[in-house]
Amino acid sequence: MYMPPINIFGQIGQSAFRSLILSAAKSQHIQAIADKRGLEAGADRFVAGETLDDARHVLERLHGEGMRTYVIALGEAVHTRQGAATAAELYEQLIPDVARHGHGTTFSIKLTHLGIELDRDLALQHARRIVSLAAEHSAFVRLDMEHSAVVDETLGIYRALRSDGLDNTGVVLQAYLHRSLDDLIGLLPLEPNVRVVKGAYLEPPGVALQRKAHVDVAYSQLVRTALAHAKFTAVATHDPRAIQAAAAVAQKNESDFEFQMLYGVRYALARQIVAHGHAVRICVPFGKDWFVYFTRRLAERPSNVLFLARNLGRR
Ligand code: FDA
Repeated sequence: MYMPPINIFGQIGQSAFRSLILSAAKSQHIQAIADKRGLEAGADRFVAGETLDDARHVLERLHGEGMRTYVIALGEAVHTRQGAATAAELYEQLIPDVARHGHGTTFSIKLTHLGIELDRDLALQHARRIVSLAAEHSAFVRLDMEHSAVVDETLGIYRALRSDGLDNTGVVLQAYLHRSLDDLIGLLPLEPNVRVVKGAYLEPPGVALQRKAHVDVAYSQLVRTALAHAKFTAVATHDPRAIQAAAAVAQKNESDFEFQMLYGVRYALARQIVAHGHAVRICVPFGKDWFVYFTRRLAERPSNVLFLARNLGRR
């Protein structure tokens, strides 16, 4: 049913390429070019737009095509109390607004957007308010997983929310981290709702697998374990082999699960999966702070950088 993926990272090495792109993205010069050229320089392939209205249009289109959706208001690495409060207020407006339109759209949030690197308790307070508000609207909020320095605290906040009785929240586990299988096993008594991803950040060898082939093997093991034991598994990948394997394991275990994919990535594959009777939830990111999200998408695939270069040359 699916075409096998082509390993384009073979020639230069995935981690070397990712390191190059994510380091270059920290340059103020490059950020200034991005600010000047805006989303239309190429980021609009991956980002619904800068406003909630832009996101609404994309949500409508995706629902019309049989997709589930989740929304994320872009922003991360916030190091001021005011910045964290602004992010929380954004979600407090977003959740009732989107939930009102039905379709079971869910939400994701990054705890560094809520100031976790500044003050862990502040991020917990904001997260508690947001997830409680979502519960009032029968909505679900997942805590995205970010760089490895905040994994312990992210899992700690997830546990704290669950012990407050908030069951409408879930977490993400990154297969490239050496620790993730143990983290999953540790979470199982909570009957967690987990999203399993390969991992998108630049991490050192002591913390994370460096070779794509090794990450793929770890991904398949983590997904298999989640499908067998977690309460709900979001299999978040665009890798056709991993998708096919997960569908077979889920069928065998009668797992409660869905596939998840990113806006702008392999949409034809998402449609194929839906046509085969499986649910696919598409991540719809929006907001003015799109640059860092966009650079992670570039770092995942060398051809995206060529696509960007062509766009910048043309416009
Ligand atoms: P893989 O890298 O093997 O790609 C498989 C195929 O998908 C490629 O051959 C290519 O065709 C296509 N593809 C993948 N990425 C592409 C791109 N950027 N542009 C174009 N084509 C691309 N990470 C994280 O650290 N924390 C998180 O919370 C999340 N959340 C999240 C949610 C969802 C819904 C998804 C799908 C992914 C994430 N990620 C994430 C990102 C994840 O860790 C990973 O970096 C990407 O999904 C790419 O890996 P794949 O699993 O797609 O496999």
